[in-house]
Amino acid sequence: MTTPRRLRTQSSDWAEGTQVVHAGEERASAFGAVGTPIIQSSTFVFDDNQDLENYLAGDADRHLYTRWSNPTVEVAEAKLAAIEGAEGALAFSSGMAAISAAVLSYVRKGDRILALDSIYGGTYEFFSKICPTWGIEVTRAAADELASAVASSAPLPRLVYFESPTNPNLRVVDIEAVTKAARKRGIPVIMDNTFATPILQKPIALGVDLAVHSGTKYLAGHSDLVCGLVAGSSDQLEKVFEFRKLLGGVLNAGSAALLVRGMKTLELRVERQCHNAQKLADFLSGHPAVEQVHYPGLAADVYHQIASKQMKAFTGMLAFTVRGGLEAARRVTDRLKLVLYAPSLGGVESVASLPVRTSHLHYTPEDLKRAGITEGMIRISCGIEAAGDLIADLGQALDSEANTDREEHGRYVARGTS
Ligand SMILES: Cc1ncc(COP(=O)(O)O)c(C=O)c1O
Repeated sequence: MTTPRRLRTQSSDWAEGTQVVHAGEERASAFGAVGTPIIQSSTFVFDDNQDLENYLAGDADRHLYTRWSNPTVEVAEAKLAAIEGAEGALAFSSGMAAISAAVLSYVRKGDRILALDSIYGGTYEFFSKICPTWGIEVTRAAADELASAVASSAPLPRLVYFESPTNPNLRVVDIEAVTKAARKRGIPVIMDNTFATPILQKPIALGVDLAVHSGTKYLAGHSDLVCGLVAGSSDQLEKVFEFRKLLGGVLNAGSAALLVRGMKTLELRVERQCHNAQKLADFLSGHPAVEQVHYPGLAADVYHQIASKQMKAFTGMLAFTVRGGLEAARRVTDRLKLVLYAPSLGGVESVASLPVRTSHLHYTPEDLKRAGITEGMIRISCGIEAAGDLIADLGQALDSEANTDREEHGRYVARGTS
């Protein structure tokens, strides 16, 4: 049995913007190539049996088979580990492959997971449909109550799972409060850091055991692949590695190369996306067709203080609720001309989606209510376009809505039309 391969080329002194460009690159063994080579090979040759034995004894410069490890995949893993401040990372074929392997590396039949009540819909389905059939119970707590639930929940949960900020409505969990309570009781914690990225938030430094990602989103950043990652300590990654190897959800080299390419500009993209989200949130907050804006960068947002404490900026994601429910939200998204109407997030293109019809389609009505996800909610993933163009597009889509509403109810005055 070999151990998963981990960091090699990196300096812990480098800042994040440097790490994402240079960490993990093995230029000496790639003819000095500056671009990251794609090692598109399922299997790897051994010189002789001694060479194989060296590999089995843990020689990290050798590879056996791409389901175990692959040099291009390892570059992506090294970059994530460097910016998450983790001992290592493992890359998967999707965010859900990463999340399920991470969770299963801790829990067994008869165990209980304590999870946040507002999480990505796929993780919710994994917890509500698959885990119970394997005898794994999942109980839930609200963002504001998660730390106290961790402190008091009985019988002792085997695992705590949450994300922050949450998909889709940007609730923020006090990460340190949760990990402190969990540490006292010896409960491991997994956190989904997809929305923030390690550029904005460092869950491992705040005490989280494993940080998981849908790398499909900000890390890859160009809406052209599906992938996932898990970062954490070497010890815990040994277990996650077993699940990746035996359930088989490893990332392929071609996608890893796209992920690596995307990660090199992560910091630049995220900075611009945060800037755009803040501008858009400010604009939406003053629009008469908008009932509520969910963005922790707004001083009035209930999560502003916690987010300011643990995040460098407030993400490129935001959600808002339009007056008039699902039908109004449909009309607004149908009117968008620049912002694409698509699920997923974190790409260079701005996209809008209706969580109740996409990412959270399989939530029960009660669970949607509990998570604060409304029918009129529109989720926006800000891309890297000019903020003014995004505001103009949302503005024209919402102005018509305010006009419609004013005609029907005589209540709203649309911006710039009176
Ligand atoms: C927060 C979050 N976690 C995990 C996932 C699952 O990732 P993937 O679609 O790459 O499997 C998603 C997908 O939207 C997500 O938004």
